[in-house]
Amino acid sequence: MRCRIRFLPSERSVEIEAGETTLLEATRAAGLPIASACGENGACARCGLEIVEGSAALEPESERERRIKERNRIDPALRLACRVRPRGDLVVRATYW
Ligand code: FES
Repeated sequence: MRCRIRFLPSERSVEIEAGETTLLEATRAAGLPIASACGENGACARCGLEIVEGSAALEPESERERRIKERNRIDPALRLACRVRPRGDLVVRATYW
């Protein structure tokens, strides 16, 4: 099954195979920049994105993800794009797009 990821405010979008591609990979596939300082290992929290619509399409936040965000002092509402693999349509936002 394919799902569509829409990126705000750029209005770009990309289709990915549900559950197989990380949100970070989808972002790069859309040609948008995304920060990463840990080699996409879920350690730096630089890849945090706001989920505008479709959060049910993501696996629940793990305790590890929660701790990484807390340690790096980023908004707890953001999800780490390198840690999640969307299973349905999603709308996400980053201020720098
Ligand atoms: S790229 Fe470092 S936590 Fe996602």
